[in-house]
Amino acid sequence: MGKKKASVNGNFKDIVNTVKFLTERKHFINSAEAVLPICTDDFGVNKVAKSLHPKEQKLVISRIEEHAEIAKSYYFKSETAPLAYFKAGQYLTFRFEIGSAVVTRSYSIASSPASALKGEYQITVKRIADGFVSDYILDNWKVGDEVTAYAPEGNLTYNPLRDAENIVAVAGGSGITPFLSLARAIDQGDENCTLTLLYGCRTSDEILFKSELDGLCEKNEKINVVYVLSHSDEEGYEKGFVGADIIKKYAPEGSYSIFVCGPGGLYKYLESELPKLGKEKKYIRFEVFSSGKKEEEEPRNFSITVINRGKETVINASSNETVLCAFERAGIEVPARCHTGECGFCRSKLADGKVYIPEGEDKRRVADMQFNFIHPCCCYPESDLVIRVN
Ligand code: FES
Repeated sequence: MGKKKASVNGNFKDIVNTVKFLTERKHFINSAEAVLPICTDDFGVNKVAKSLHPKEQKLVISRIEEHAEIAKSYYFKSETAPLAYFKAGQYLTFRFEIGSAVVTRSYSIASSPASALKGEYQITVKRIADGFVSDYILDNWKVGDEVTAYAPEGNLTYNPLRDAENIVAVAGGSGITPFLSLARAIDQGDENCTLTLLYGCRTSDEILFKSELDGLCEKNEKINVVYVLSHSDEEGYEKGFVGADIIKKYAPEGSYSIFVCGPGGLYKYLESELPKLGKEKKYIRFEVFSSGKKEEEEPRNFSITVINRGKETVINASSNETVLCAFERAGIEVPARCHTGECGFCRSKLADGKVYIPEGEDKRRVADMQFNFIHPCCCYPESDLVIRVN
């Protein structure tokens, strides 16, 4: 009987509260503005979204660090807005005007995500043969210069829902930077995975950040680093290339994901090595910042008719350069971020002509393939072309 009474009282209270709530809600609705509030930039939610995904960021070079004459690290701060946050493994795309060319290039962020909250990004640029933009940066950027970068992007990030909690990272040359960021994030407690870093260089002189990597490895049991030299036989280093055998030798027991970042040659080599590990595709992730196309000894010359917002421009192109490179050289600005066919920013319509897409670089959606949309960053002209951008 007592229980019943308590239940009746409870129901009565619920009814009273509901009536009170409905009356208040009616009053609130009736007294509200007839016009919907405009979501201005002052709106809290908009402020957060804007700081996480700014259209572009004006960055100032705060310091430069040299790495044995082969690379330089550039540190940036912003004098106008907080830096956009990122996940370890993401990259920044910078915009350059070099002569009459307008180009964009992406560089993985080497600093830890926590450092962005403290107002600093770090990227590292290595000098490469015929590196048009890397040469420009290394020879021209100085402390105090202002540069334009877009919001951080990229998928070479640890995602516990998708990836195994052990990451085996294969780095080649300056491809070490996203994994340096990950190692720093693990050490700072911001990522929960373990990292086995297999870092391939030609000689020990070319290893970047060695003392920091060794230090992280020593102090944090979740981080392990192995150096692999292809062009010299030195004590304390593995000799050869990072392939299936080296991965098997150092991979942790149990399940692991493989992350790869480096030049196109590394990607080509691993193409035949990784299948030997018998891993499911979802456990292998790539970030490759250069094309796998084999250069022609006698490149063929073509023309591209570019239709941009109704305006037609005819430019020259070579079979040895991507369509995006031809655009950039001619000063035609097309949105671009990854330069690997991944992000889709440069998606354009191929209205006429034929392009070559190196194997493994065609990351278009099926519908885009059917309707002749291309990613100019990973297409090479095979004939004169007509392309509609934007
Ligand atoms: S720049 Fe990302 S797909 Fe072309």
